[in-house]
Amino acid sequence: MSADRVRLCALSDIAPDSSMRIDAGGLRVALVRIGDDLFAIGDKCSHADFSLAEGELDIEGRTLECWKHGSTFSIDSGEPECLPAMKPVPTFDVVVDDGDVYVTPAEEAS
Ligand code: FES
Repeated sequence: MSADRVRLCALSDIAPDSSMRIDAGGLRVALVRIGDDLFAIGDKCSHADFSLAEGELDIEGRTLECWKHGSTFSIDSGEPECLPAMKPVPTFDVVVDDGDVYVTPAEEAS
């Protein structure tokens, strides 16, 4: 049974090659747009309470860098790629429906 989807914003609200923090439906999400591709991970760094969406987006490496201490997180898997963060952040499945962006928590790998 899948969780209800949560509307984050209109697709036109996020510029290509950028990231933004969105709080919606009890979720805190770092939404990333690279070209026409969308990614969503938890916006709270797993090392301390800082926004990943406010960090630097590496388009080639597909990571967001925490601006506080420099850990980079994969926007595909939510996994940290360098210290000091060691735990992943959540990932979300993203869909665009009629011009709006929605997320649902990604299924756990089994
Ligand atoms: S708060 Fe993000 S790496 Fe320390």
